[in-house]
Amino acid sequence: NSSRTVRIVEVGPRDGLQNVKEIIPTATKIELIRKLCATGLQNIEVTSMVSPRAVPQLADGKAVLEDTQVQQLLQIHPQTRAPVLIPNIKGLDIAMQYGVKEVSVFVSASEGFSQANIKCSVQQGLDNSRKVAERALSHGISVRGYVSCIFACPFDGPTPHQAVLHCVKELLDMGCYEISLGDTIGVGAPTQVRSLVSFLTEAGIPVGKLAGHFHDTYGQAMANVWAAYHCGVRVFDSSVAGLGGCPYAPGAKGNLATEDLVYSLHTAGIDTGVNLSQLVDVGAWISQQLSAPNSSRAGNALRAA
Ligand code: HMG
Ligand code: MG
Repeated sequence: NSSRTVRIVEVGPRDGLQNVKEIIPTATKIELIRKLCATGLQNIEVTSMVSPRAVPQLADGKAVLEDTQVQQLLQIHPQTRAPVLIPNIKGLDIAMQYGVKEVSVFVSASEGFSQANIKCSVQQGLDNSRKVAERALSHGISVRGYVSCIFACPFDGPTPHQAVLHCVKELLDMGCYEISLGDTIGVGAPTQVRSLVSFLTEAGIPVGKLAGHFHDTYGQAMANVWAAYHCGVRVFDSSVAGLGGCPYAPGAKGNLATEDLVYSLHTAGIDTGVNLSQLVDVGAWISQQLSAPNSSRAGNALRAA
């Protein structure tokens, strides 16, 4: 793939906020989505519909979805994709009541994280995802898939490539239009990215079906994007201000900061459709709202410049 554009999937409102301890007002979440949209980001994961006991921070997902501005965003699909993360039919049924046009299903390539995160085995997670995907697709709802722990699991250690391939194949087979490869605990480095993406494509997975979702625990996320880019991957997930982390992945830090991603891509002459200076302001704004340090290096540098 030689095209000079990259599609960014902003996961801040979902992955970015799900691990924040103090409950954030729903209005702030909606304002974040609105501001992100105004920067030109056209793919924004807006919330999840999961057990409120599992992720208390996103227990207001319904209130987010029923907001008028979020509703407008949902309705202009596929110009703008606004997926909701869904683990089971219960979550899908709720999301459908709010007119959601895209959902993301998620599985782990490792057993330990699967049990911790969704209380079932990898295969049960795939079976649940298949039920969600089949029902969603029969209602014209697009489905994106995630595979977690692509390099390592906080409970099981290193993940074999074969386990990732199995999940990717099943998710594509159930109709996911794209599979996001998640380095949930952010331990992977560029050589591992090259090795995994080559393994998957040599096994017949089209590179155009793959996206990269790199957490930045070890500071490798941006380098990992470039490694994947050079293998042909053109879709990357990131989170404004580098927010993020999974409550069931001990030690996991935030996602790659969207500001850092946009800065790096634009410097290389690759189009993202995003207004960087506006995005930097959104990163500063949400960090202030959360009283948290802004984890975007580019964001902080551009503010100081
Ligand atoms: P369980 O306890 O076995 O489920 O959890 P359950 O069916 O017994 O339900 C428990 C309660 O949750 C019940 O309520 C259900 O009604 C309710 P109660 O009767 O006790 O009042 N419930 C729901 N409510 C709303 N929406 C739903 C839903 N489902 C059940 N969809 C379950 C199993 C899968 C539900 C749970 O473990 C869960 O929700 N897990 C999700 C955890 C999560 O969201 N993790 C973070 C996202 S994954 C991630 O961050 C990784 C990613 O970014 C990629 C990467 O970085 O690798 C995607
Ligand atoms: Mg994640």
